[in-house]
Amino acid sequence: MNIVSEIAQLGAPVLRMQAEVVSDVHDNEILQLIVAMQNTLAATSGVGIAAPQIGQSKRIIIVASRPTPRYPLAPLMEPTVMINPGFYALSSEQEKDWEGCLSIPGIRALVPRSVEIMITYTDQNGILVQASLSRFVARIFQHEFDHLEGKTYLDRVENNGDIYAESEYFKLIASDV
Ligand code: NI
Repeated sequence: MNIVSEIAQLGAPVLRMQAEVVSDVHDNEILQLIVAMQNTLAATSGVGIAAPQIGQSKRIIIVASRPTPRYPLAPLMEPTVMINPGFYALSSEQEKDWEGCLSIPGIRALVPRSVEIMITYTDQNGILVQASLSRFVARIFQHEFDHLEGKTYLDRVENNGDIYAESEYFKLIASDV
């Protein structure tokens, strides 16, 4: 049975908490949480989700870049569950691009992020993985990682003029193509 969880909305205290480290990736509650995150993400057109977004303050994210109506130009990748993720920037280069968030419906904004990053995480088998990410997938990772630190992308917007209603954002990208 695919149970889809309610997504915490901006203002919910769980989105402002430092999430807890996962000590046992094989714990049954953690397995259930991951399944709930997978089901919930699959029911949306989002490209990533963090455990706090379904009300669980644990350090787990899923990065799942794919072309969707929300992100038509996103590269396709296998959805990846990342437990206790960490990262550092591989260069000082940052770029601003559009982000949205399932916890902040109807809004998009330009957000500066590192372009090239090195990440580490524990996978569902308990294996420590290291990988480099770039561009849009690196952006998704940094966005989801922020949720584990109690931050949203709005906290990283440089000025209010970079915040758009989603309807205006769609007009803008339609006129770009
Ligand atoms: Ni988000």
